[in-house]
Amino acid sequence: MNRAPELAERLLFQEAATLAQSAYAPYSGFAVGAVVVGPSGRSHHGVNVENASYPAGLCAERAALAAMVVCGERSPRYVAVAAVDGQDCLPCGLCLQALAEFGDPAIVARTGGEVRVVQLSDLLTAPFACGDGARGGPAGDGAGEAGR
Ligand code: THU
Repeated sequence: MNRAPELAERLLFQEAATLAQSAYAPYSGFAVGAVVVGPSGRSHHGVNVENASYPAGLCAERAALAAMVVCGERSPRYVAVAAVDGQDCLPCGLCLQALAEFGDPAIVARTGGEVRVVQLSDLLTAPFACGDGARGGPAGDGAGEAGR
């Protein structure tokens, strides 16, 4: 449910923390980096990108998720999220919903001052789904696993 990270997971978290230095967060000052690991083991990177029109801002996790989809992957295995200066940062509700579209990755993030690993489905127990709830799946036809 919520456990200490193994070495590889700790390294992923470090990768996200390094990425956070590239965030564009002039309004909140809260810089975030995210790494999404797809089924191939490849890392996909994202940072938060804020905007003068605040709601136009993008979270790091959704930026990394989009990068994964660009590369043809559809099943995130891990999502590491880190804010600068060692601040706690779990994915926000919007990002959890966005990630749940593609499965149930393990989240590696600092919470309560410690880096922990928690399953997305433990953070978001009831994601919204349309119709039959078909989601994610392999890339190729632009549709989900069930060929919507
Ligand atoms: N933010 C993320 O990038 N990921 C999260 O999980 C939480 C919040 C960003 C959004 C905004 O740019 C800044 O952090 C402050 O909310």
